Amino acid sequence: MSLVIAPRSTAAVLPYKSLSNEELSSRIEAVRKQLGSRLMILGHHYQQDEVIKHSDLRGDSYQLSQMAAASSDCRYIVFCGVHFMAETADILANRPEKLEARGGERVTVVLPDMAAGCSMADMAAIEQVENAWQELGEVIDTSDITPVTYINSAASLKAFCGRHGGIVCTSSNARSVLEWSFARRKRVFFFPDQHLGRNTALKMGVTEEEMPVYDPYAGDLGGNSEAAISASRVILWKGHCSVHQMFRKEHVDQFRARIPGIKILVHPECPREVNDLADISGSTSKIIQTVEAAPAGTKWAIGTELHLVQRLKQEHPEQEIHFLSPVICMCATMYRIDLAHLCWSLEQIAAGTPSNVIRVDEQTTTESLVALSRMLEVK
Ligand code: 13P
Ligand code: SF4
Repeated sequence: MSLVIAPRSTAAVLPYKSLSNEELSSRIEAVRKQLGSRLMILGHHYQQDEVIKHSDLRGDSYQLSQMAAASSDCRYIVFCGVHFMAETADILANRPEKLEARGGERVTVVLPDMAAGCSMADMAAIEQVENAWQELGEVIDTSDITPVTYINSAASLKAFCGRHGGIVCTSSNARSVLEWSFARRKRVFFFPDQHLGRNTALKMGVTEEEMPVYDPYAGDLGGNSEAAISASRVILWKGHCSVHQMFRKEHVDQFRARIPGIKILVHPECPREVNDLADISGSTSKIIQTVEAAPAGTKWAIGTELHLVQRLKQEHPEQEIHFLSPVICMCATMYRIDLAHLCWSLEQIAAGTPSNVIRVDEQTTTESLVALSRMLEVK
């Protein structure tokens, strides 16, 4: 379980909403200057430009976890991302050896807006996963299964993986994590994102028939027969990202028909029919690196969150970059973090009264650290 210390309603941020971006930016910079290396602002690639420009470091989920794990001088991490990222930062920045090195002093992790959650992470509750595990155990031997949770999940699910010999994966190391898992046990239970699990396993030769989807709302065995579970190699959880779910096969077809030679670059949270047709699929960092490394004049249709695609478009005028979907696919919860929330949360820290502090309880921290440390070792 994770606790929120000093949660504050949006009413506290209201006065900041009427300030201009210039005013907010200069107040943010003033706090950054005042706190110096005691403060680290981490920003995920999906953040809006005006927020990301105030971050000390930016990255994908794997890199942001590494940054939190490596933090040494800082005493405050302000996470411009979503809730599961802040929880992970709290666990890694305050793991026992780090606490000892700091003489017991904790790093305070702040999420500027508590409404910045992840709808995919909310699709798998620990009670549902525990229940599924027990049900599966009535048909197959659970000691044959490695539970793998995508980092986009609550800390309680990471703790579950820690307790059961499992591991956490991100979009950048999913394949290595599945290889790690299959080297130890014959099956994988993958949650909460069915698409990342399926897209990754298909590339490793696991067939669709060997990947039943467990739907926690579909009754016994998540809506599967005993035969399907017995024949499984990867049991997928019925979860998805509502942003990436919007990219469709017809969008790929339309771009290919309209712009000859265009390359399709997508995040592996996209559904199978999109991922299969893409030229390249990878984490947000891989998407950025791929565009950066391409020669001028390359044409792209990119299937991931809108803010990242727009930034790439601005930063690479020498390339032709399109957003893969005709409709706006943006992560509304990431977008909750705006300059007003960032400024407010920083000034709360500067005043000695940090709000929206994310703190994972001790037992969950200990158990999830097992699965997170494995994730950091498997690149
Ligand atoms: P990355 O780890 O690729 O940055 O993805 C995080 C995420 O939430 C994608 O929707
Ligand atoms: Fe969650 Fe999707 Fe937003 Fe990523 S883009 S944080 S998976 S809702």
